[in-house]
Amino acid sequence: MFTRIISAVVALLIFATANAGVKLQSTYDSIVDKSGNISLPENFRRDWAFLGTWSIAREDVETSSAASGHGAAGLHNVYTQQTTIDHFRETGKFPDGAVIIKELLKAETSSMTTGTVSRGTVVEGWFVMVKDTQGRFPSNPLWGDGWGWSLFNADQPASTVTTNYKTECIGCHIRARKDDWIYLNGYPVLGTAK
Ligand code: HEC
Repeated sequence: MFTRIISAVVALLIFATANAGVKLQSTYDSIVDKSGNISLPENFRRDWAFLGTWSIAREDVETSSAASGHGAAGLHNVYTQQTTIDHFRETGKFPDGAVIIKELLKAETSSMTTGTVSRGTVVEGWFVMVKDTQGRFPSNPLWGDGWGWSLFNADQPASTVTTNYKTECIGCHIRARKDDWIYLNGYPVLGTAK
């Protein structure tokens, strides 16, 4: 009897481990609570797939630095689950539970053997979007238009600073409205970069 219980528990653990990160529904069991508060997934940089980078050009005109006027002031690195990429490549749509994270990094520029090169340095924060095809949180101002929306500052990763996506997010994403609000042309792995 006892051994049977043990093997059932072991089987369950193996099943749970094998499915971790595969079922996107798990998004709503892990990083979204019952009221719709989103938390930043752990280890996404190590475990998730990389979608692409946006380089924010320096607009200063310093004359003292070797890299004056060149290079990036910041880099935005974007990640998602591998399953989201598979699903998007098959259907052209983001699946329920898809999470897209844009990490903001400061950048430094220097002369390297490859040219004038910018590299990411300090993390400043994370923009997170969680796909919701079911309209789960109609009265939560961080949810709507098919997504949950939240910004986390690097010094306070445990709680979002966003209070209302309509005033703090969507105005800037309007140009990507026809692509489900996502700036698809920066993500080669989705087959949408132009
Ligand atoms: C100042 C305009 C602006 C605001 C405000 C803004 N975004 Fe964005 N967002 C962009 C642009 C432009 C991109 C792609 C290029 C870039 O990162 O510079 C982007 C990219 C993203 C991405 C990567 C996926 C994509 O669409 O390409 C996420 C995730 C994201 N934003 C979430 C948010 C959330 C959540 C908020 C509100 C808390 C928000 N954004 C507010 C302009 C904005």
